Amino acid sequence: MKSNLFVVALMAVFLLVGIGSGAAADSLPKAEGQAVYEYLTKVSPYQDWPLFPGTQKLYEGKHPHGALLTTYVSPDAQAAIQNRAGQLPDGTIIVKENYMPDGKLDALTVMYRVKGFNPEAGDWFWAKYGANGNIDAEGKVPMCSGCHTAVIQNDWVFTGPLK
Ligand code: HEC
Repeated sequence: MKSNLFVVALMAVFLLVGIGSGAAADSLPKAEGQAVYEYLTKVSPYQDWPLFPGTQKLYEGKHPHGALLTTYVSPDAQAAIQNRAGQLPDGTIIVKENYMPDGKLDALTVMYRVKGFNPEAGDWFWAKYGANGNIDAEGKVPMCSGCHTAVIQNDWVFTGPLK
């Protein structure tokens, strides 16, 4: 009898912890490489997100990104792209997996829109991670934004039309 009570108590604890982590999934990370990586791999695993509308897994990329690319977008961004909203909402995260020609994962490149983070460059936070999560670049990265200005009229995004 006593042990039954213990099991019930244990289940209640798991339930509460479960609800707690569900709430955490809604809070976006701060604009910082490590926090964003934790969010993408633990809080809201990006591989469960939709693919960038109009793309499939492992499509051919252009220089300087990988030979093969798979690009995921946060669900709110998917809706904006499908509705041709013209701009992606605050909190949008785009995660692009960059693969070598032999299919080996080489890097993750991320764009994350954080209101007020960098108004001169579309408020995009940029990050590049190695396959094992090490941070190669993060923040206001001129190399990233410099090239992406070519598509400033498309909200700095190359992969598909937003309008
Ligand atoms: C020389 C130009 C260039 C540079 C530098 C560059 N990108 Fe890109 N980026 C592209 C192109 C072109 C695409 C479209 C995908 C493709 O076909 O390769 C792209 C796509 C992306 C995407 C998918 C969303 C989109 O815009 O289509 C992300 C995320 C991204 N880049 C992040 C980065 C990050 C982070 C950096 C810096 C570490 C970076 N990029 C540097 C040209 C560039």
